[in-house]
Amino acid sequence: MAIRKIITTTDPLLRTKSAPVERVDADLQRLVDDMLETMYAAPGIGLAAIQVGVPRRLLVADVGGEEDERQPHILINPEILWTSDETHVYNEGCLSIPEHYAEVERPARCRIAYLDRAGEPAEIEADGLLATCLQHEIDHLDGRLFIDYLSKLRRDMIIRKVAKAERETVVI
Ligand code: NI
Repeated sequence: MAIRKIITTTDPLLRTKSAPVERVDADLQRLVDDMLETMYAAPGIGLAAIQVGVPRRLLVADVGGEEDERQPHILINPEILWTSDETHVYNEGCLSIPEHYAEVERPARCRIAYLDRAGEPAEIEADGLLATCLQHEIDHLDGRLFIDYLSKLRRDMIIRKVAKAERETVVI
């Protein structure tokens, strides 16, 4: 396994619409392992393949927290089947928009069809933080970010600040 570099809003690839995964093969298993290691190391509770520069419809999520209770969700080609009318507001962040957070309102519950790690069809019904996390990650697969739910003024300000912070970071 290896930790991969997470791209940010300064990389136009982040806005790419990801293509479906066509084969669940050894290369994909390696990508899943790398994404899990990258997410846990960050640390974060979700990561989409596009965030490590791979425009494929794949995401990992784990809202569990404790290391000995790790129960990652691995969703290949996820499709939202249903969302609740009831909504929930969370203060969201994103590994691709470091240091910035904002309240985003999303459906409180959702049902999603996907292929599991073995390539088998599966469904999950999520609520609470997991529901928000999965919707946030599926947005990434369409090139959408949580800042897109904010005003243009606030979104542009955050994008400028991320770019400025990167310019001022010296990697030695
Ligand atoms: Ni994100």
